[in-house]
Amino acid sequence: MVERRCVRGGARRLVRGLVAAALAAGVAVAPSGCGGRDDGVVRVGFSQFVAAGSWRAANTASVRAALAPAAGFELTFSDEEQRQEGQVEDLRRFIAADVDVIALSPVVQDGWDEVLLEARDAGIPVVLVDRGITTDLPGAYATRVGADFRSEGERAGRWVREHAPGARVFELQGTLGSGAQTGRQQGFDAVAGDQVVGAATGGFTRAGGRDVTAAALEAWPDVDLVFAHNDDMALGAVEAVRAAGRRPGVDVRVVSVDGTREALRALAAGDLEHVVECDPAFGEQLAGVLRRVAAGERVPDRVVVPGREFDRTVTAAEIDARTY
Ligand code: AHR
Repeated sequence: MVERRCVRGGARRLVRGLVAAALAAGVAVAPSGCGGRDDGVVRVGFSQFVAAGSWRAANTASVRAALAPAAGFELTFSDEEQRQEGQVEDLRRFIAADVDVIALSPVVQDGWDEVLLEARDAGIPVVLVDRGITTDLPGAYATRVGADFRSEGERAGRWVREHAPGARVFELQGTLGSGAQTGRQQGFDAVAGDQVVGAATGGFTRAGGRDVTAAALEAWPDVDLVFAHNDDMALGAVEAVRAAGRRPGVDVRVVSVDGTREALRALAAGDLEHVVECDPAFGEQLAGVLRRVAAGERVPDRVVVPGREFDRTVTAAEIDARTY
């Protein structure tokens, strides 16, 4: 076990070396009892992959609010227009700035090992935010705080199995290779995969959802249910169904994930059928984890953000209470 102390300059670098060795060996790093530095402030570099979209904007706002100076954080924030290369550059900047912890919301799962090795060698722990990664690197990251995407897909699939067992499903997928896409697809397919007649990505955007669904309704005219990997795409799909002269909720049903206010309104209006919640407002939960990681405490490998489900019985009060 290696102790991480509040030190400066050369001594700090020496401790960082010991921390790096400990992370590589998967050894616990003991609490320093002082947060990130001797002033108690935890310096966090957060690489978010994009700021746009209702869910992502709410997630960014929640994290920013929780990592405020008043809560003992100094936050360096960056968003990268869906560019993985930009996120890798962010991480290198954070390493050069010698932050206490890196928070990474990765746009896709693969391709992080090189930069995570650099962070590990520098003794800077990484916490994954929302989406996960695939890696063979021991000690690549401390933990992941975010929803269970596979379970979200399974719950959507169970709804379809139970309420629309004969439906012919078009699966409107999120950004290919992202944790949210692979997890939701695996979960849904495990339960209702035999009902899927076609699939394509709408990139998690409303315009993508609309255009791809329009093409799908032409390619597979007998499709009567869309499983959208998020609400923005689901709302785009509803537009496409109408534009094709078909009735959402009657001719083509739409099942989705996220639980934005706009989606719950569409649910209450009968345009959507069922929504599995993916809660983006986990900033406080993340802040607690980052504090502990910066202090060298051991944290669970996985911190799951829970989510509920909504159907047509959603109330006005529940819709008004939405923060995103
Ligand atoms: O990673 C979570 C997903 O990313 C949300 O469901 C989606 O809306 C966002 O783009």
